[in-house]
Amino acid sequence: MTFVLFGATGDLAKRKIYPALYNLFLNQKLPDTFLVVGIGRSSLSDREYQDRVTESLYTFSRHLVNDKAKKKEFVKKFRYTQLDISNADGYKQLLEIVEHNEQEFQIMENRMFYLSVAPEFFEVISFNIQKSGLGATKGWKRLIIEKPFGHDLKSAQELNEKLSRVFEEHEIYRIDHYLGKPMVQNLEALAFANPVLQSLWNNQYIANVQITASETVGLEGRAGYYDKAGAIRDMVQNHMMQLLMMTAMSLPKQISAQEIRGEKRKVMESLRLMDKKEVAKNVVRGQYGPGEVNSEAVIGYLKEPGVEDTSSNDTFISARLWVDNAFWEGVPFYIRTGKRMAEKSTKIVIEFKNPLKELYSKELQNTGPNLLIVYVNPNEGVSLQLNSKNPLNGEIEPILVNFSANKANVPEAYELLIHDALKGDSTFFAHWNEVELSWKWVQPILEAFEENLVPLQTYCAGSMGPEASDDLLDEDGFKWW
Ligand code: BG6
Repeated sequence: MTFVLFGATGDLAKRKIYPALYNLFLNQKLPDTFLVVGIGRSSLSDREYQDRVTESLYTFSRHLVNDKAKKKEFVKKFRYTQLDISNADGYKQLLEIVEHNEQEFQIMENRMFYLSVAPEFFEVISFNIQKSGLGATKGWKRLIIEKPFGHDLKSAQELNEKLSRVFEEHEIYRIDHYLGKPMVQNLEALAFANPVLQSLWNNQYIANVQITASETVGLEGRAGYYDKAGAIRDMVQNHMMQLLMMTAMSLPKQISAQEIRGEKRKVMESLRLMDKKEVAKNVVRGQYGPGEVNSEAVIGYLKEPGVEDTSSNDTFISARLWVDNAFWEGVPFYIRTGKRMAEKSTKIVIEFKNPLKELYSKELQNTGPNLLIVYVNPNEGVSLQLNSKNPLNGEIEPILVNFSANKANVPEAYELLIHDALKGDSTFFAHWNEVELSWKWVQPILEAFEENLVPLQTYCAGSMGPEASDDLLDEDGFKWW
């Protein structure tokens, strides 16, 4: 297999892709013969490129680089090609390099094209892959791309149309790195493997579902991108929707990519679309002002370098969604995500109904509802909140039954996803249907924001978002957990 990596000198390659490949290599999960051809704009020798890869392993790899011989064996498989990605002729040369290596090292003609570049280059690269003959392999060819997939519904559809001239849907692996997070992949197993949960996973027992992905970081030097995208495109259209699908999907008849993606699609097809005039009732948009995060003073969004001081970009979104099917009718799903919030935490909370409370109000006054909490990030774990009698004072109180994974042994999202793509398993990649249906839900929100139909709330950096976000749940008699 030849791994053709566009954007080989970029940040993602350095932080995620090289360490992921290395850990797969150490765990013997890469094909016996493989080669990585890195492509970038700068001029580098193979040796210089290999040095960069080595450096990234020392800095970012999950497994420490202890075995020097192994590391050397790994790095030897990296070649570098300087290429102007819009110049069709350069691809002929690239084809020669790939073919030459395939012959020399007897590598099967399977080619993985990884586009770790800005999306405006997806089209030209895929076009040139086809034109040059790089895509005409005797084995398989596959494409891995990163978000953002389009800027709105129309641009996403156009992009998909262009990509699908070169790659068939089953050859396209759209990475949503949230789908690579072990606890997200664990969601179906939790319901599958536990009849107790399985029987409770519906609107008879569940009061609401809350999905939070809060971050403490601000712009991290990405103003150029983020100020146009906002939290709605950066997090909601992709990651939050994927978390929602994974939580709300019905158990597939069997665990296969086709079944799981089919169930996810059904969730999206049942998602209630909003008219842009209704958006303000169900969506809160916020932007952080100055404040304190982790005991450090931070500036407000409008003072961030690269952001216009009149920007109305959203750095926080919370929303109420409805999945109109027999399972979830009447159960609100709440999502919230934002930058510069109080803590870094991605979690899914299932709040169960609490009918007993009305019957035995006095005895149960200190109790809480049963909660199932799936911690996705930064720590992986599952908690179940039950009520139990405190032996010290005889009061019935909430207790937490906790499981948490040993962080050091948990593989990284990119490791799992690249491994799946190499095996041809697309279960945890976003299918075009999901992406399109998700844009369909987001589109009226984009329009409502543009037409200023939804007030932009300021929240203090270091908080959990604007008050309006709490009000959203309060209206239904709930609170964020
Ligand atoms: C990325 C977004 O997709 O996800 C970033 O572009 C965000 O803005 C990041 O910070 C969050 O990922 P994680 O894995 O740290 O929750």
